[in-house]
Amino acid sequence: MIDKVYCAGVKPEMEGKRVKLAGWVYRKREVGKKVFIVLRDSSGIIQTVFDEELGGEAYALAKKVGIESSVIIEGTIKADPRAPNGVEVQADRIEVIQNVDAFPITKDASEEFLLDVRHLHLRSPKVAAIMKVKGTMMQAAREWLLQDGWYEVFPPILVTGAVEGGATLFKLNYFDRTAYLSQSAQLYLEAAIFGLEKVWSLTPSFRAEKSRTRRHLTEFWHLELEAAWMDLRDIMKVEEELVSYMVQRTLELRKNEIELYRKDLTTLKNTVPPFPRISYDEAIDILQSKGVNIEWGDDMGADEERILTEEFESPFFVYGYPKHIKAFYMKEDPSDPRKVLAADMLAPEGYGEVIGGSQREDDYNKLVQRILDEGMKPEDYQWYLDLRKYGSVPHSGFGLGLERLVAWVLKLDHVRWATLFPRTPSRLYP
Ligand code: 4AD
Repeated sequence: MIDKVYCAGVKPEMEGKRVKLAGWVYRKREVGKKVFIVLRDSSGIIQTVFDEELGGEAYALAKKVGIESSVIIEGTIKADPRAPNGVEVQADRIEVIQNVDAFPITKDASEEFLLDVRHLHLRSPKVAAIMKVKGTMMQAAREWLLQDGWYEVFPPILVTGAVEGGATLFKLNYFDRTAYLSQSAQLYLEAAIFGLEKVWSLTPSFRAEKSRTRRHLTEFWHLELEAAWMDLRDIMKVEEELVSYMVQRTLELRKNEIELYRKDLTTLKNTVPPFPRISYDEAIDILQSKGVNIEWGDDMGADEERILTEEFESPFFVYGYPKHIKAFYMKEDPSDPRKVLAADMLAPEGYGEVIGGSQREDDYNKLVQRILDEGMKPEDYQWYLDLRKYGSVPHSGFGLGLERLVAWVLKLDHVRWATLFPRTPSRLYP
């Protein structure tokens, strides 16, 4: 490890101090007998200046170095209001670790090209900012989960059955059997609550969704919580407290990164409990009043959700969905058997669903019936049904799509920008 200072650690008040910096050439220009190199590292950027009169050899090397070359630069700090952040480094030494003649990414690169060279695009400070925000959001989630007494568990990814419908399962050959990539850890988390009561996991989840929308990936990071003794109302409270903490904490720690992407922070600041709640019935009324061709019993897609979000200035819940459009494990509403005790959380500004959650069916016979109604085989869910035989309890849980939350917080136009290497039907490389 070299003894270096991060670019963002160089401050005007350090004028006169000597520093060693290590990073990549971000921008370069020559003005008269000076070469200006803006150096980039994980912390940010700093301007360095090579003056022909000061250091002949360093100046000659700096003149030749290409964009994205890896370099170590040494020099003296000088406050200068014209430089980015009001400070620059008068450089007298440069060591070129690797010179780059021509970096493939240029200013006019198309989005498709940027995805083709995602391994190179990741170094852009704007892309790095997204990754910092995503990491901080999970850091915040962990902080909240720890102080609220939730146990982290580590469920399997290789599974034998569907949670969210057979149509989106990725199938694979598991020796002489068929296995699938997990769509959700939920069923395993449900097993874990009998020993740990309040559990959570962060796993990759997989959906063989052919639909090319701005909110679907084939692989996404799924934050899931499951708790014994909680009903739908309780779990919705957990959801709003967790999401609010994630957003407020990230605003506190990553304001600069967020402001690279959004000017207006109103909806983020508004993300404090209690979030507005509307029933599915009310949602249908709102949509119909806005001229949308939708009837009670229809599922809401991205377009309908986008129209609904126009009514809200913060995340909000839609609860009480019709049973036939929701998953088999959701508990029937005792006051209306056409409905289930389910709620989705929708993000405002057009984004829509970020969380799917529900109270779970805890009655053995009802659950078997739901499995049969869905055309599935109860014998495929034997272990899961066991959970309703040995000390079944009321319980609830939810899943949050991390990329969807990040996409909303940063107002990205597609969830793929919120992943390191997006996986979509057409993209498996790099
Ligand atoms: O609504 P979903 O399908 O619910 C479940 O998987 C439950 N078993 C979770 C649970 O209760 N433990 O997915 C939950 C969330 C969605 O709200 C969405 O944010 C995200 O996961 N998600 C996706 N994100 C990106 N690409 C996809 N293809 C996604 N599918 C779901």
